[in-house]
Amino acid sequence: MEKNIFALKGDICYSKNLKELQTMEQGLLVCKEGMVEGVFQELPIEYKDIEVKDYGKKLIIPGLVDLHMHAPQYTYRGLHMDLELLEWLNSYTFPAEAKYKDEEYARVTYGRFVDRMVKSATTRACIFATVHVEGTLILMDLLEKAGMHTMVGKLNMDRNAPDYLREVSWEQSAADTRRWIEEAKKRFENNVPMLTPRFTPSCSDEIMAELKKIQVEYGLPFQSHLSENSGEIEWVKELCPYAKYYGQAYSHFGLFGGDTPTVMAHCIYSCEEEIQDMKEQEVYIAHCPESNMNVVAGIAPVRKYLQEGLKVGLGSDVAGGATENLFTAMMHAIQVSKLRWRLVDDTLAPLTVPEVFYMATKGGGELFGKVGSFEEGYEFDAVILDDSHIPDQDGLTIEERLERFIYLNQEADVKAKYIAGTQVL
Ligand code: GUN
Ligand code: FE
Repeated sequence: MEKNIFALKGDICYSKNLKELQTMEQGLLVCKEGMVEGVFQELPIEYKDIEVKDYGKKLIIPGLVDLHMHAPQYTYRGLHMDLELLEWLNSYTFPAEAKYKDEEYARVTYGRFVDRMVKSATTRACIFATVHVEGTLILMDLLEKAGMHTMVGKLNMDRNAPDYLREVSWEQSAADTRRWIEEAKKRFENNVPMLTPRFTPSCSDEIMAELKKIQVEYGLPFQSHLSENSGEIEWVKELCPYAKYYGQAYSHFGLFGGDTPTVMAHCIYSCEEEIQDMKEQEVYIAHCPESNMNVVAGIAPVRKYLQEGLKVGLGSDVAGGATENLFTAMMHAIQVSKLRWRLVDDTLAPLTVPEVFYMATKGGGELFGKVGSFEEGYEFDAVILDDSHIPDQDGLTIEERLERFIYLNQEADVKAKYIAGTQVL
């Protein structure tokens, strides 16, 4: 089925807001020109002749949105979880990313990554690549051909990285960034460039100032890491004497939200001022719960961010997270919030299923526009889930089936996927 008009039939579930799930058994989800027309129990008269694809008792949910992941780290997912962030980067991440200088290696390994992404429930993602222009374009080409809709970053790293990976100067880093953007804009429609300085320790003041110029020139979104690890935070204090707190190492250069759609990954140790800046500048927080555990970073106070009205989505942070599976990320988000409540701060109540589902759909989806819901006017991103092999499902509500799917999901359970009205799986 191509983009025109059709309906999917099944047990439908989507978020209205943080607290409320909207469900309909045997509902009809109508797509017109890639957009959601609505969810109906009976097809309205004007749609009575359209094609209906009947998915029986399968669940139909909006596509999931991964606000933070590293494609080149997919090769070592599930390995090397024995170090904290800065040592982990030096020991495992930088050597793994350096291999992407080799275009053939990039084609093969990014090919495997994109295959998995297509089979997953994820429809939209913010993806870190590496410093390499050609490798990043290869990744974007594969994503485009697979029908994914993503934002992808060629990294900037012009300091504090090994010679084999560091860019030789800020001028070269900027020139490569411009060349990559020009090429990507020519070649890709649905996978777009996102400015991506790796994090403050990897980027000189000069490249940050230049990235602001590039950002204004091309009107691009922006992503980086923020306040993930105490060693990292101390280091940023030394590197950026002008910054009272980490967020100012970005806002100093005009690279902290405002008119620029911006995602900051982690935000585990953000101080009150940093939180207020993120709120005022409408910065999206990518909460990456599995990574919080694996690199022993700590647990982000997500309940506090939600209470304050900040924008929060979920990230897999592959390979800080071992899996790209966002149902697992939803489960971990609930579980780490319970441990935080029990062990760290009993004023911040654990997260709930509707809250993590919202973050993984409509919450993160907002970065991409009207994405992550089945309300009228949203882009038609839909995932069909088969939970029929799970025993003891008798009499469960759709909400209960969703909850169970979050805890018991397996890769094989995604049966079909539509992005902006086009079937990609
Ligand atoms: N901070 C800077 N780079 C990285 C990375 O690759 N992963 C994580 N989790 N944090 C980072
Ligand atoms: Fe990360």
